Amino acid sequence: MSTHSKPVFLRALDGETLVTPPLWLMRQAGRYLPEYRELRAKAGSFLALCYNPEMAAEVTLQPIRRFGFDAAILFSDILVVPQALGQALWFAEGEGPRLEPVADEERLRAIDGQADQDKLAPIIETVRRVRAALPRETALIGFCGAPWTVATYMVAGRGTPDQGPAKELFMRDPDLFQRLIDRIVVSSIDYLNAQIEAGVDAVQIFDSWAGSLGPAEFERWCIAPTKRIVEGVRARHPQTRIIGFPRGAGALIPGYVTATGVDVAGLETDIDRDFARDAIQSLVPVQGHLDPLILRAGGPELEREVAAIRSAFGARPFVFNLGHGILPDTPIAHVERLIAAVRA
Ligand code: CP3
Repeated sequence: MSTHSKPVFLRALDGETLVTPPLWLMRQAGRYLPEYRELRAKAGSFLALCYNPEMAAEVTLQPIRRFGFDAAILFSDILVVPQALGQALWFAEGEGPRLEPVADEERLRAIDGQADQDKLAPIIETVRRVRAALPRETALIGFCGAPWTVATYMVAGRGTPDQGPAKELFMRDPDLFQRLIDRIVVSSIDYLNAQIEAGVDAVQIFDSWAGSLGPAEFERWCIAPTKRIVEGVRARHPQTRIIGFPRGAGALIPGYVTATGVDVAGLETDIDRDFARDAIQSLVPVQGHLDPLILRAGGPELEREVAAIRSAFGARPFVFNLGHGILPDTPIAHVERLIAAVRA
């Protein structure tokens, strides 16, 4: 393959410094797009959309057609893995995810074993369809949730502001919690490998709640399981780049990068920019980290922030993104301005 047939997104992940950074947005397929809302209404529910390969492929492609981002991200959710492990999952309209909590021995036994990969087959089929439809210059990103973040939902049965239920469980019964983490690790390795075999070019491990762990807890519940996933994917697919996104981990990120072996570090909105450049980007390419609130607000502040981020990270390999998912009420015109500013 000549250098120029390789998508710019993958060139940055491979360590190339580009004048114009590649660009995609977390949650780029979603409710801020009228074409997404239309298809979601047709599907009947968010989960029905995730498990319908034809519709999920279409939703994945919508932001690429409209904006020409440099990478597409598979349309699915991190909580399909607990569902494949046998845990009931549903989305209460307007309230977010709900699961039957797994917080004792009996409940854990009920989901003991590995994820039923057949349940994930429609999602793997989505990957095949998207890859076949995407332009060659657009990369396709697969993903899973990191074990800690997935466990916070599995234990509490819902999103929690402080991850209290999962923390209480690992303090009260670390062995039980470890077994839960182990299930997620093994299932996530199989799931990511299946995504890669179906055509994704890179994978991202979302650890949205990494920031709620102290250093020793971070070592045990974030770094150690993530390292096992990285090793399990690399054993089968040594060429596939892995992006780690331990959101909120701040000063712990350099240690995370070194210990887990991820190829790229996702940066959260609030990270200190000089620290991120000097202590993280000196190790691996970085991805991030515009505040989704600034994108929603628009105006001159948006242009200023884009310029500040590009000047902080532009001298080394870098992928432009948000520091967390795009907000559902973000005006499309602001996304267009962002793209113009990044590509200017
Ligand atoms: O980035 C993308 O466009 C790809 C698809 C994607 C979704 N969720 C679609 C989605 C990805 C990568 C995720 C990851 C995810 N899911 C995370 C990690 C990243 C993060 O945001 O912190 C987490 C914690 C979840 C669990 C989850 N899914 C929550 C807490 C919610 C409710 C909050 C919300 O935004 O509504 C979801 C629902 C969800 N996942 C939606 C989408 C597009 C909205 C569903 C809808 O259409 O109503």
